[in-house]
Amino acid sequence: MCGIVGYIGQQEATPILIEGLRSLEYRGYDSAGVAVFKDGLNLVKAKGRLANLEEKLVDNASTGLMGIGHTRWATHGEPSDVNSHPHMNESNTIALVHNGIIENYLSLKDELEFEGYTFLSETDTEVGLMLVDYYYNQVGNLLDAVIMATDRIEGSYALAVVCKDDPTQIIATRKDSPLIIGLGNGENFVASDIPAILKYTRDIYLLEDAEIAVVTKDGVTILNEKKEVINRDIFKVTWDIAAAEKGGYEHFMLKEIFEQPKVIKDTLIPRLPLNQDVIELDQIKLSKKELANINKIYIIACGTAFYSGFVGKYLIERISRIPVVAETASEFRYREPIIDKNTLLIVVSQSGETADTVAALRMGKKAGAHVIGVVNVVGSTIAREATEVLYTWAGPEIAVASTKAYSAQLCAMYLISTKIAMELGEITDEEFSEIKEELYSLPSKVESILQQADYIKSLANKYINMKNVFYIGRGMDFAVAMEGALKIKEIAYLHAEPYAAGELKHGPIALIEKGSLLVGLVAQEELFDKTVSNIKEVKSRGASILAIALEGNTEIEKVADDVIYVPSTHWMFTSVLENIPQQLFAYYIACGLGHDVDKPRNLAKSVTVE
Ligand code: M6R
Repeated sequence: MCGIVGYIGQQEATPILIEGLRSLEYRGYDSAGVAVFKDGLNLVKAKGRLANLEEKLVDNASTGLMGIGHTRWATHGEPSDVNSHPHMNESNTIALVHNGIIENYLSLKDELEFEGYTFLSETDTEVGLMLVDYYYNQVGNLLDAVIMATDRIEGSYALAVVCKDDPTQIIATRKDSPLIIGLGNGENFVASDIPAILKYTRDIYLLEDAEIAVVTKDGVTILNEKKEVINRDIFKVTWDIAAAEKGGYEHFMLKEIFEQPKVIKDTLIPRLPLNQDVIELDQIKLSKKELANINKIYIIACGTAFYSGFVGKYLIERISRIPVVAETASEFRYREPIIDKNTLLIVVSQSGETADTVAALRMGKKAGAHVIGVVNVVGSTIAREATEVLYTWAGPEIAVASTKAYSAQLCAMYLISTKIAMELGEITDEEFSEIKEELYSLPSKVESILQQADYIKSLANKYINMKNVFYIGRGMDFAVAMEGALKIKEIAYLHAEPYAAGELKHGPIALIEKGSLLVGLVAQEELFDKTVSNIKEVKSRGASILAIALEGNTEIEKVADDVIYVPSTHWMFTSVLENIPQQLFAYYIACGLGHDVDKPRNLAKSVTVE
């Protein structure tokens, strides 16, 4: 999410910053900016693609040998000139760029406003800048000011900060958001990702959490929070530029699969403040009274986003006892669904631009429904038109096949369903504590599944020649089965069908023969025996069985040819865990078959036509 570049040396900084930003544009592309030092700090920012900034720079030539730049993927505040980075203090002496999310920015903002600060933007980043400014005014030293400010920041950050009073240095620091230092000869670089500086150097310092780099043209000093010097080995980059853009991964899809622990953390944790029994859902203000009047919920979306909504349906109905219809937008918009002011319409979309989903939203609003948009792209049509928005903070998803955005959408469903149940008094404080604890543990559980990638690859190789794949499950497992089958169709071009396990014997079982593969999802513990009976029926007709089960449930080995285990969890959250192996399985089959995984045939990332 977002890209940072910094340069200090003997060349003109602006072209180097722009070039670096161009190679990072896939990380964020709704606005960009540079601050370059000559006699003072010259700031130029533009909403939209990088080309807009370049156009602006033609008339505002920013000369100078030191500067910082940023390409943004909005989280706090819509894409606009004023919300874009770098942010600069009132006296135009300090400029800062930031990747990540400052979770406690509202309370910090209150404090700074009390001290007399005013804010131009809606961003958390400007709060970070003003905090640096506040401490700088006290101590008169940028390094100390940055250390003092970051000590107050909760959340994630990668920061590059420059100051007019000392243009011989860039201060760079990070926590939970990547930042590297590139080492040149008489020049040095700062970047959020290697491709930004690969043209100039392959010698890199990888900054660790809470480390601070003082970058001058002649050297780089890495310090810890106590200002003790850290000796860091130089990391030599051996990849070519094309591969490095994918962070060393072969495809964006694989990179995005591996980003999921972070994405899940970013989407969940800021909404679940420590030591408080609350869920903070951004702008969603639906009151207790309004919720009590809601008599029906529709969750409407397309493709993968729809499958996340299907999970949401199971969750909300089970814990809040409100009827929920999950439906594809293309169907919903052309029938005559019953909608009134007591209807809650939840539309889910990664892009926020899918034509059918936008139409469903408009239809719901016209009929008086309260519309919540669960959206990944800030400032998109759905984000702008929904009554309220809950953002999934998955970052830009480049691969056409959705992976990390789906996991973030599932997290949004976990939050929304729990929030509704809490407001309606359907869950106790103890139940909420249990849920919260489990949500906190999901990123590390996903991480542990990703460590099985080689095993899943070996299974993909084993089953690569299958002709038909059936994905089955009951309850929420069925919802996840639908996503598994879609993924393998999209990128491996294999015929795959998801079925509610109990439905098989009503027809589709006739298709089962030797050479078929059945992927059985059995994470719903209370439905385990039922699904296993269905698996046995298929096995006895010649299919191979690959099961996805919870750790400890070794019973499944009696019937399955192969099992992928995922960590055991609260019943509400099995979907996000059991889907990870499905993503990897589809990915490795598609690679094995030699397909263009990131750009599958016939598909587009954003479906803005009907
Ligand atoms: O941008 P959206 O979430 O609204 O897109 C919906 C679908 O087009 C999308 O999920 C599609 O199914 C993906 N290719 C799935 O991988």
